[in-house]
Amino acid sequence: MTARVLDGKAIAEEIQSELAEELVNFIQDSGFVPCLAAVLVGEDAASQVYVRNKRRVCQHVGIDSKLHSLPADTSEDELLELIASLNRDNTVHGILVQLPLPDGISTVRVLDAVHPFKDVDAFHAENVGRISQGRPRFLPCTPHGIQQLLSRSGLPVAGKHAVVVGRSDIVGKPLALMLAQRDSTRGPEAANATVTICHSRTHDLPAVTRTADVLVAAIGKASFITAEMVKPGAVVVDVGINRCEDGLVGDVDFAAVSEVAGAITPVPGGVGPLTVAMLMYNTLKAAKLSI
Ligand SMILES: NC(=O)c1ccc[n+]([C@@H]2O[C@H](COP(=O)([O-])OP(=O)(O)OC[C@H]3O[C@@H](n4cnc5c(N)ncnc54)[C@H](OP(=O)(O)O)[C@@H]3O)[C@@H](O)[C@H]2O)c1
Repeated sequence: MTARVLDGKAIAEEIQSELAEELVNFIQDSGFVPCLAAVLVGEDAASQVYVRNKRRVCQHVGIDSKLHSLPADTSEDELLELIASLNRDNTVHGILVQLPLPDGISTVRVLDAVHPFKDVDAFHAENVGRISQGRPRFLPCTPHGIQQLLSRSGLPVAGKHAVVVGRSDIVGKPLALMLAQRDSTRGPEAANATVTICHSRTHDLPAVTRTADVLVAAIGKASFITAEMVKPGAVVVDVGINRCEDGLVGDVDFAAVSEVAGAITPVPGGVGPLTVAMLMYNTLKAAKLSI
């Protein structure tokens, strides 16, 4: 079998076009342009690329963006002061703090300082709690992007066994919660899965992953998911971004798994573009909440 390759880039462009149209109407009706403030601390090369890319897509869809670039030796208090001023600023609707933050700064304290109505990454405890209760304000961008990608590719998850490898607060945990809910932004067929979460202490991981109808890899280890770990015909979503000598590589051995899976996302060009598209979605939502 050769798997169908799910084109995340094309689906992200489709979502961005829909958002661009909605933005034109929103700006006409409200009289203001939604604005995303990006906060970047330090010189991390990958973070700089991510922020640049997010701002480029902002411009593409019609969202304003401001960059607050701080030196690596910024103190936690200085960063919290900036966040507080962005919370107060009525011209800023979404605040994005690019992770990772330098050592010595508490990520939890900083993310909790972002006003929950401007929390376009959906990392604030209040927004996470709302997701778990099935009444989200914002959805985290990568999990929401995965849900959009599957749904828009005609791959329902309702009633399926979804195995999520990875339990981070950014991807694995919220995605598992969202897939198990009764409903989603794409309707009940994009939710209602039976979900298993795996992590580094999971016993006999291949035995678990082989039971997955939908297998999501969010691990951070290059080509970790091999063909032997995949049930024939399964849908495989590769969230991983690993920088190797050959360039960007996912958490899935793409060539080998493509011979077994029914559908698979590539890296790059799979989940990544969806993450940025859903950040735009959240920024528009934050602007709507500000009225
Ligand atoms: N495409 C995108 O837009 C996007 C967005 C976010 C992240 N990413 C990428 O996705 C990957 C994961 O990111 P993350 O932030 O979720 O990573 P993370 O916080 O490092 O979490 C990794 C997870 O993988 C689990 N894990 C590690 N080794 C394992 C093993 N041998 N067997 C089973 N589970 C194992 C860990 O288990 P423990 O909890 O037990 O340690 C942890 O839960 C990274 O490559 C990241 O760059 C991509």
